[in-house]
Amino acid sequence: MKKVVISTGGGDAPGLNAVIYAVVHACYRQGWEVYGSRSGYAGFLDIDEMVRLTPRDVQEIYAIGGTILGSTNKGSPFARPVENLAGEITLVDISDKIMKNYRRMGFDCHIAIGGDGSLEIAHRFSKLGMKVIGVPKTIDNDLMATDRTFGFDTAVSTATEALDKLHSTAKSHDRVMVVEVMGRDSGWIALYSGISGGADVILIPEIPFELESVCEKIADNELREKHYSIVVVAEGALAKGGEIISKGEGELGRQEVILGGIGEWVATEIRKLTDKDTRSLTLGHLQRGGSPTTFDRLLALRFGAAAVRLVEAGTFGHMVALDSSQMKAVPIEEAIKTRKKVDLTSDKISTARDIGICFGD
Ligand code: F6P
Repeated sequence: MKKVVISTGGGDAPGLNAVIYAVVHACYRQGWEVYGSRSGYAGFLDIDEMVRLTPRDVQEIYAIGGTILGSTNKGSPFARPVENLAGEITLVDISDKIMKNYRRMGFDCHIAIGGDGSLEIAHRFSKLGMKVIGVPKTIDNDLMATDRTFGFDTAVSTATEALDKLHSTAKSHDRVMVVEVMGRDSGWIALYSGISGGADVILIPEIPFELESVCEKIADNELREKHYSIVVVAEGALAKGGEIISKGEGELGRQEVILGGIGEWVATEIRKLTDKDTRSLTLGHLQRGGSPTTFDRLLALRFGAAAVRLVEAGTFGHMVALDSSQMKAVPIEEAIKTRKKVDLTSDKISTARDIGICFGD
């Protein structure tokens, strides 16, 4: 009999609930107990935030977006912002408290579902003696050591559907529509949705762009009697010699700056340079919402079940990963070394170029 605790950390992604569903069911079949820690590690600090999960508690959640456990992308237990009596904020390491409670609560292991930030935290706990299995999540698809993370396919589908809808309005008004998508400093969502959604231009962080080149493509469209253009911009894209545009630090204890604003900047510049009617929109958190696609659901269920198999085998300190079409275990540190960038030699880039998409280079 084992006592397993599961947590979801970082930005939510469609498929989190499917992982929880699979873990709970697979553990139940082994006769093990599963607990869920709410909002990342809150359950290790407050018993009311630790919930028992049985198959009854997770009925049909595999099809629902978000996470029944809640999530957070601020306040790492290794650097948690705490206000002292003088009203000053200091960063405090509360990891020993979490380790103590993990042991006191009698857990055998922790299944941590997260992106690079949450898996890095899980890895640090693993070094402190916690038995950890990682499950890779993020709509950005920027984790190393796995072909895919769940959440990405749903985000790409949402962005593609939005692009499909924008064609008709752009065409009716002979406009340039600039669409900013998520992805942090990787261009996966922009690339996949841009190709599938008929973009004329795709701007990704991996290829710094020149506005002249973007405007040339728009002018070329005009020459070919196509009087509207769709430009997809990854939130982390940047002009050659320019800087990433962000909205600042965001909430206290947050690990990352909030990206955003490049789409509007590109639209303003295109308007100035081409005199075309240009509009911009940011898809934002729509890409994180809704029910997971079949692909993401299946991947998340497979990840959850594979994580429980790793618990059974005692393969701790590892993350489940998709390798070609197989599930495998990789050391967590492999996944968090660097962020996975779009491979510029991949056939997706050549496909885009072959069908006339401009990358602004
Ligand atoms: O990592 C997922 C992600 O959605 C990024 O694409 C985006 O930059 C970030 O999270 C947004 O974070 P938040 O939900 O805190 O605004």
